[in-house]
Amino acid sequence: MKRVFSGVQPTGNIHIGNYLGALKQFVELQDDHDCIYCIVDLHSITVPQDPKALQKSILDVAALYLAVGVDPKKSTVFVQSQVSGHAELAWILMCNSYTGELSRMTQFKQKNRDRESAPAGLFTYPILMAADILLYDTDVVPVGNDQKQHIELTRDIALRVNNTCGKTFVVPEGRFLKAGARVMSLDDPTSKMSKSNENAHSRISLLDDANKIKKSIMKATTDSEGVVRFDVENKPGVSNLLSIYSAFSGTPIEELEKTYAGSGYGDFKKDLVEVVVSNLAPIQERYKEIRESQELLDILKEGAEKANAIARPVLERVHKRFGLGL
Ligand code: AQP
Repeated sequence: MKRVFSGVQPTGNIHIGNYLGALKQFVELQDDHDCIYCIVDLHSITVPQDPKALQKSILDVAALYLAVGVDPKKSTVFVQSQVSGHAELAWILMCNSYTGELSRMTQFKQKNRDRESAPAGLFTYPILMAADILLYDTDVVPVGNDQKQHIELTRDIALRVNNTCGKTFVVPEGRFLKAGARVMSLDDPTSKMSKSNENAHSRISLLDDANKIKKSIMKATTDSEGVVRFDVENKPGVSNLLSIYSAFSGTPIEELEKTYAGSGYGDFKKDLVEVVVSNLAPIQERYKEIRESQELLDILKEGAEKANAIARPVLERVHKRFGLGL
């Protein structure tokens, strides 16, 4: 079975971008792949976090993994900092990476836009991501489109080490969905939906109630043409809403365009509210059951043990190739 690895940062409530771009794939893959899903808490501290809020967020994200359908009997679910091999391998990879290639990462450039100097962790975190993936001999990495560049970097680092030290790492492939691979902000459809956007109406979080979902969708930026038509360049707002509608309902975008021909944005948005609310309701119900259960902590503990057991021989192989230790 092919090995799958992916993770989500515990930096706030997971939104429908994370869900449609990544989590939906997590669930799809677990029947016929060996899946490892991680809550990447070490990544989240590249920007300051309140320790109490971070602790809560780690469990929230873990519970949401299970609520959307990740099954701990099929998939390994754990918290990144519980497996010390991530940080250890990141250091070794850092010594085999270049500041030039890190400076080209567009996410770093965006997150560091208004600063003269950045935390070193923010600069090097794509290497930690490479370590996350390579630590498990991963074949497939299901992620949103925004991670394409980081997956390329991971492949470059793996190939570089394999070329200089002999075959050490499995070279992974990214897996990106067609629908939902890049869900855009509701208030600014030219930037991606994000957990850290200050405007809560820019996103729909998986735990938002029906009222909040309605408000966010009804306020979503569209245009003055009044025609429900998919045209990302000229109508990014409407196109984003069509993509969300299609990803949740499974209805092709062309069919949605026909359904709403001549009906304006009001009806379209109202129906989209219903589609989103009805899709999120069962997730929210399951989340409530799981979040407070002891079962969640047991699953994460067992997951960390399993992940450590997979990572150990890979780290031993890396140590040997680099001549580390005794
Ligand atoms: N807007 C998006 N559309 C589709 N996929 C997305 N992903 C993130 N945003 C979108 C995918 O979700 C997974 C987890 O992302 P993450 O939490 O590790 O980091 P992120 O990409 O930085 O997510 P956010 O929401 O934008 O968080 P903040 O605001 O904290 O930076 C990844 O597979 C990602 O591709």
